[in-house]
Amino acid sequence: MKFEGRTLLVTGGASGIGRGLAEALHARGAKVIVAGRRADLLSAVTAANPGMASMVVDVTRADAIADFAARLIAAHPVLDGVINNAGIMRKEDVATPAHLDDAEATVVTNLLGPIRLTAHLLPHLLTRPRATVINVTSGLAFVPLAATPTYSATKAALHSYTQSLRHRLAGTSVEVVELAPPYVQTMLLGEFQATDPNAMPLAAFVAEVMAILAQEPTPAEVIVERCRALRHAAENGAYATVFAGLNAEHF
Ligand SMILES: NC(=O)c1ccc[n+]([C@@H]2O[C@H](COP(=O)([O-])OP(=O)(O)OC[C@H]3O[C@@H](n4cnc5c(N)ncnc54)[C@H](OP(=O)(O)O)[C@@H]3O)[C@@H](O)[C@H]2O)c1
Repeated sequence: MKFEGRTLLVTGGASGIGRGLAEALHARGAKVIVAGRRADLLSAVTAANPGMASMVVDVTRADAIADFAARLIAAHPVLDGVINNAGIMRKEDVATPAHLDDAEATVVTNLLGPIRLTAHLLPHLLTRPRATVINVTSGLAFVPLAATPTYSATKAALHSYTQSLRHRLAGTSVEVVELAPPYVQTMLLGEFQATDPNAMPLAAFVAEVMAILAQEPTPAEVIVERCRALRHAAENGAYATVFAGLNAEHF
């Protein structure tokens, strides 16, 4: 896809992968709007990137998404894309009901969030000559991490939803892309992850993603080298081995 001249919303754009992608897109000439719950973090990102815009949104608030989408489109009438990147990841003890609050929050944020926001943006995106919906899933969509069962399940569900969305929008101006990161150095699971040597450095991840996204036509799936073993485990006949290796230790 071409980046220059595009106007793209990045949810969860104030930190981690979202911020990395937002800044890379901004540097390549896109107008980027970062969105999330923490206004102070959003302001820090726009201050560091003159020309970038921000809006506060909580993607779990079904009642607020329609209003958010309307305000976003009113402020940026040439909006032609969204990166549904906002997400949470929680460890869960499945043996007790104590994890149910985390399970429900994870479903509402990671699965219903992108479904709702995309639904409210699509009527507008379909009027644009070329538009893009990018859903951020995970390598864990393809082989689950048992310590984070609901997280892994939401990403598998978003993978499935993305396939259906792509099929239903085929022949329209809206392309649908899945971005499945491997384990990357961010604060998703906590501070330790940001410096975990087993996780992919964020800058290297963003650079590889941008190189793949720059291809024409835009690939349906953006899978960096480090994620290929997970993405293709089943078709490679390696699912049981990869599952066992991934789940040999608990975080
Ligand atoms: N890092 C990895 O290893 C990895 C691997 C595979 C997939 N991913 C996916 O990559 C995406 C980004 O994660 P990350 O690693 O960059 O972690 P992160 O830094 O924690 O980013 C998550 C972002 O989502 C936002 N967010 C969370 N709940 C939200 C809500 N209810 N409404 C609006 N925004 C919300 C957060 O901002 P606020 O808290 O300010 O709202 C934050 O900016 C997630 O979808 C994650 O599942 C990450």
